[in-house]
Amino acid sequence: MKSLSIGQHALRYPLIQGGMGVRISGGRLAGAVAACGGAGVVATAGLALNSSHLQNHNLFSADALALRDEIALARRLAPKGVIGVNCMMAVSNYDETVRTACAAGVNFIVSGAGLPLHLPGLTLDYPQVALVPIVSSVKAAQLIARKWHKQFQRLPDAVVVEDPETAGGHLGANLEDIGQGNYDQYATVRRVRDYFQQQWQTQVPVIAAGGIWDRQDLLHALDQGADGVQLGTRFVCTHECDASAAFKKAYLDARPEDIGLIMSPAGLPGRALAANYESICAHDQKPGLRCPMGCLKRCRYKSEQKPFCIVQALDRAQQGDTETGLIFCGSNAWKSQRIVPVAEIMAELFAENSLLNAVNT
Ligand SMILES: Cc1cc2nc3c(=O)[nH]c(=O)nc-3n(C[C@H](O)[C@H](O)[C@H](O)COP(=O)(O)O)c2cc1C
Repeated sequence: MKSLSIGQHALRYPLIQGGMGVRISGGRLAGAVAACGGAGVVATAGLALNSSHLQNHNLFSADALALRDEIALARRLAPKGVIGVNCMMAVSNYDETVRTACAAGVNFIVSGAGLPLHLPGLTLDYPQVALVPIVSSVKAAQLIARKWHKQFQRLPDAVVVEDPETAGGHLGANLEDIGQGNYDQYATVRRVRDYFQQQWQTQVPVIAAGGIWDRQDLLHALDQGADGVQLGTRFVCTHECDASAAFKKAYLDARPEDIGLIMSPAGLPGRALAANYESICAHDQKPGLRCPMGCLKRCRYKSEQKPFCIVQALDRAQQGDTETGLIFCGSNAWKSQRIVPVAEIMAELFAENSLLNAVNT
């Protein structure tokens, strides 16, 4: 099996756990994956919601405090593990979140939902923190590389290529392009890899994200040219996942036809359990309600109270309200059959039974 390093951080297994926002991947899940030899990722979006910090601080200050807590928890669970955060360009406090994560000692930053063209400027004081943008096209990777090289004399330490046809959460694609055969996940992986080799004479690890479920998918991804994989959906039905039991049960109950695309107020499509979409909108369009905190830079709910408040809808789902909560998931969510320890998934993926010792003892 290929080995993978993200910047100067060597992983035992070439796997990044996908950041899953609004406390689906907090410190507990990230720490468990990192302790098993993958890269654990705390998703920074919406961390403060429902935290005690919100009682005494505004949202953005509370977010920073909650982020420090989650990173510290992950680090306690995996003192020598590789731990990162997922930051979304679309959020209002992106810059502050990146700085907080660096100061809290993360090893890497994965950045999605927009092109992180200024990211290296935010981490200048932390050269050991690896920077990993998420893209869905070669063009996006090229734009980032050119800008980073010109302005900051650095290139990404790895690139995640996320497949809009399968991945969960917000997708970097136009809604009408999905399902039309416009995306070829592994052709994009290889083109991104070739771009860095040919244009910059360097090997930048390319990580495939979206639709990877089992060992066969993992081996296929590596065979097709990926240096590693990023898995989100597979880690939801684990004991360590930070979502409520009801959120996980919704995955266990899901059928393939329950998984669909929704349009987020952030202006991006998203993959989710889509059956309750009308209830989500009805909940948030009640008269008198309005954007409570301005968490996104651009948001249709902020400007016109339509169609729903993304952070509150995700927060409700995380807490177990599956009626009016938004349950993001990848196209494989229906494959979830039981709640298992993270170590069991890692042992299966990497055919490494020794990982199970920690579970069995
Ligand atoms: C519940 C859920 C929440 C997600 N939230 C985020 C997020 O906050 N930021 C992000 O960049 N990606 C997010 N994603 C995408 C994952 O990080 C990952 O790249 C993707 O789900 C991989 O596809 P898979 O789910 O088929 O494994 C989310 C995915 C899921 C399932």
